[in-house]
Amino acid sequence: MTTATDLDTSTVETAYARWAPIYDAVCGPIMVKGRRAAASAARDVGGKILEVGVGTGLSFDDYGPNTEITGIDLSLPMLAKARARMMSGRYPHVKSVQQMDAHNMAFADATFDCVVAQFVITLVANPEQVLSECHRVVKPGGRIILVNHLYSEVGVAAAVERWAAQKTRSLGLRPEFPFARLQAWAQSNSDAILVERRKVAPFGIYTLVCFERTAVPLAA
Ligand SMILES: C[S@@+](CC[C@H](N)C(=O)[O-])C[C@H]1O[C@@H](n2cnc3c(N)ncnc32)[C@H](O)[C@@H]1O
Repeated sequence: MTTATDLDTSTVETAYARWAPIYDAVCGPIMVKGRRAAASAARDVGGKILEVGVGTGLSFDDYGPNTEITGIDLSLPMLAKARARMMSGRYPHVKSVQQMDAHNMAFADATFDCVVAQFVITLVANPEQVLSECHRVVKPGGRIILVNHLYSEVGVAAAVERWAAQKTRSLGLRPEFPFARLQAWAQSNSDAILVERRKVAPFGIYTLVCFERTAVPLAA
């Protein structure tokens, strides 16, 4: 299912080619708390971690020796930065970064212990398809961890986000994505369960959402 407000893949590629040279300076500090919260939750799972939409690899500092990180991204200019980071030798836990569309991943089923996507799910062309791909490549018992700004849904903040949505689309940003859509995806999967939804400190502008792929399908 896509909606009229979903971004298309070519808009995202064009936008992130423009973002790449300035991304770390602009988005590094603004998103750091959300990025770290998601990486911390992934560290608690440990093992083989796939980072979807790895961008420039800003999160590499946030993982440690109990993890093996594989990163994918659509944008070659963003990935070039991630690859340079990886090659610096400072991140032995980063195994590879590859160009790949999260809608159709080349990994076998049940490859990873954990899939992380920081500030990605709201801007992919088909969020449900990407969630299903994440679910496919995570092992039973493994987790999908997302962090994003999610739509306020009511009040002045919601109105501002709806207005901003029209202006920020070409920048590859999407401020009005509802949590209900993530929840509906989990409810439509018999072996996916929402295990956590929490605001990230200090200001609560980002929400961390965690799904588990259950080892056995849930009863209907
Ligand atoms: C806002 S940036 C977030 C980057 C990084 N996760 C971070 O927290 O700094 C979104 C990233 O998702 C990538 N992306 C968007 N759609 C994608 C897709 N379908 N498959 C893979 N990556 C995608 C973009 O190219 C971009 O690098």
